[in-house]
Amino acid sequence: MSDLRVAVLGVGMMGGFHVEALSQRVRGATVTVINDFDRARATAIAASVGARVEDDPFAAIGAPDVDAVVIASPGPAHEKQVLACLDRGIPVLCEKPLTTDPDTALEVVRAEHRAGRRLVQLGFMRRFDPEYAAAKELIDSGDIGRVLLLHCTHRNMANGPHFDSAMMITDSVVHEVDVARFLLGEEITSVQVIKPTPTSAAPDGVFDPMMVIFRTESGVIVTVEIFVRAQIGYEVRTEVVGERGSTMFGLDQHGVTKIVSGDGGRWGGAVPPGFVERFATAYHHELQRWVDAARDGGIDGPGAWDGYAAVAVCAAGVQAVRTGEVVPVTLGSSELSRG
Ligand SMILES: NC(=O)c1ccc[n+]([C@@H]2O[C@H](COP(=O)([O-])OP(=O)(O)OC[C@H]3O[C@@H](n4cnc5c(N)ncnc54)[C@H](O)[C@@H]3O)[C@@H](O)[C@H]2O)c1
Repeated sequence: MSDLRVAVLGVGMMGGFHVEALSQRVRGATVTVINDFDRARATAIAASVGARVEDDPFAAIGAPDVDAVVIASPGPAHEKQVLACLDRGIPVLCEKPLTTDPDTALEVVRAEHRAGRRLVQLGFMRRFDPEYAAAKELIDSGDIGRVLLLHCTHRNMANGPHFDSAMMITDSVVHEVDVARFLLGEEITSVQVIKPTPTSAAPDGVFDPMMVIFRTESGVIVTVEIFVRAQIGYEVRTEVVGERGSTMFGLDQHGVTKIVSGDGGRWGGAVPPGFVERFATAYHHELQRWVDAARDGGIDGPGAWDGYAAVAVCAAGVQAVRTGEVVPVTLGSSELSRG
């Protein structure tokens, strides 16, 4: 079978990473077309992998040497780019968010439904991380019994002043939204946000850290600590508490180390500096499985409905930051969730 010919739209941090992975590590794919608003960047990255540059993202999607598309442009560009892929009937891997508001996200779900097959995959890479996959298997096995609680911790080393409380929800907590839906296999029905005294590293008016609390359809409570100026590194930990057991992961994943030092020794593991280091394996599995599926004209991972649900929960979360209230999440017709 010939290689999947891929166009990558947006080659900043994430798109550049995907181009490199598709060209160097993933089997069965060739990056043929690069598009970015920044032509110089597009040209440099295209040259590094022998691809050509297309200035118009929609021309890239429609190009005869393109079988599938990776979208890593900023969120506001996603809706039209995904719809263009659906119009052409080709598989697309779209980084979160699917769109910037629930109504337009549901429109994408409807458009895919009309197309009659699953073509839109969302870049929720944690589903492909071995630790999350093992936790999902354990939960589904029933060995820890019915799940009652899910505790998530999401800490970043630092973020610029632009990264406000709303972005903490839409850019960071969005991953915990998908993790909760993935692990629990049910929808989130409400969101509440509790705001402790902010760190002195937070700009004026930014609530950092925050505690975000989801309730699910069956009554599971999910707590998310979001702290994006924690100064240490990238710490993503999860604990699932069931009736007969619990599982915790994401802690000291590089191993526990004991080191003798001048002040009497220290104990602990390494903390990865960023998400690329922490989730390198997950990104690899995500891309490989998407390429394998796209060569057969489909996808293999979280879909348009998952993207829509995440946008809807995050919109409620942003409202919950503002109002301090418990904000309900109401999703469109669940008929569409089957894709
Ligand atoms: N899955 C993850 O862990 C993860 C991590 C980081 C970012 N993301 C997502 O990836 C996307 C890109 O984020 P990033 O951090 O790489 O941003 P970035 O700013 O580093 O890169 C975005 C690139 O897109 C280009 N661009 C702008 N408008 C465009 C358009 N209309 N069409 C094509 N290109 C356009 C910009 O010039 C820039 O080069 C975002 O949606 C973000 O939420 C996902």
